[in-house]
Amino acid sequence: MPPSSKFTGVDFSELPVEHLTANLTISAQGFRCLRGEFVTYWRQGRIQREIDARISQCWILRHENTLAGYITLLADKLVVDETILLDEGVQYRSFPAIKIGLLAVDRRAKGAGRRLVEWAVEYVAEEVSPTVGVRFMTVDALYDSDTSPPYDASGFYEKFGFQFADPNESLPPSVPYRTMYLDLKPLIDLLSIQDIEPTEN
Ligand SMILES: CC(C)(COP(=O)(O)OP(=O)(O)OC[C@H]1O[C@@H](n2cnc3c(N)ncnc32)[C@H](O)[C@@H]1OP(=O)(O)O)[C@@H](O)C(=O)NCCC(=O)NCCS
Repeated sequence: MPPSSKFTGVDFSELPVEHLTANLTISAQGFRCLRGEFVTYWRQGRIQREIDARISQCWILRHENTLAGYITLLADKLVVDETILLDEGVQYRSFPAIKIGLLAVDRRAKGAGRRLVEWAVEYVAEEVSPTVGVRFMTVDALYDSDTSPPYDASGFYEKFGFQFADPNESLPPSVPYRTMYLDLKPLIDLLSIQDIEPTEN
């Protein structure tokens, strides 16, 4: 029989994602992640330092005041080799983006990763893009070739439609990650259509 978990039966798709602010006290006691460094980032204050320095913002999922997962967002620039928006008359090869900085969930919190990424994509499309030009989301998907097999987070992001900034990059990459991006325009367009459609009552 599998060990009982404090997250058994929790539907993370229904849980609110909360902004980590000074008013929110949260216990990370017992937070267990597939990759221990992400526990250390939290416990040793890296995330709080980056928030205090105004270089990132953090959102969390919690259950009974226990940390189930966190995600940080920050401003970024997507750089690609191709003129990917040429058919829209845009010749640039670099574009404004919002980056997923750190993302980690408790390994017992099944579905928490999906909830945080889906929330972040919607948040940027719905709340950020109407006021600041931002077309893409980016992430440096962790690739650790020191484990066997290599730890590769890119498959997780592919589930949400993220693509590789350099699809021809050879493995293992020269840095411990592969940069990926997601085009937000289809979702932004969908949300603007919904905004102008009259609601039925
Ligand atoms: C990556 C991480 C956030 C995923 O969170 P999670 O809660 O395990 O993911 P979910 O249960 O929501 O999974 C969503 C889907 O992605 C899949 N998935 C999860 N990790 C994957 C991986 N490394 N490669 C391919 N698919 C993956 C799941 O099987 C699931 O697929 P399904 O919807 O078809 O069933 C989590 O494993 C984690 O914290 N890892 C350690 C830290 C880390 O790598 N962070 C990312 C750094 S860029």
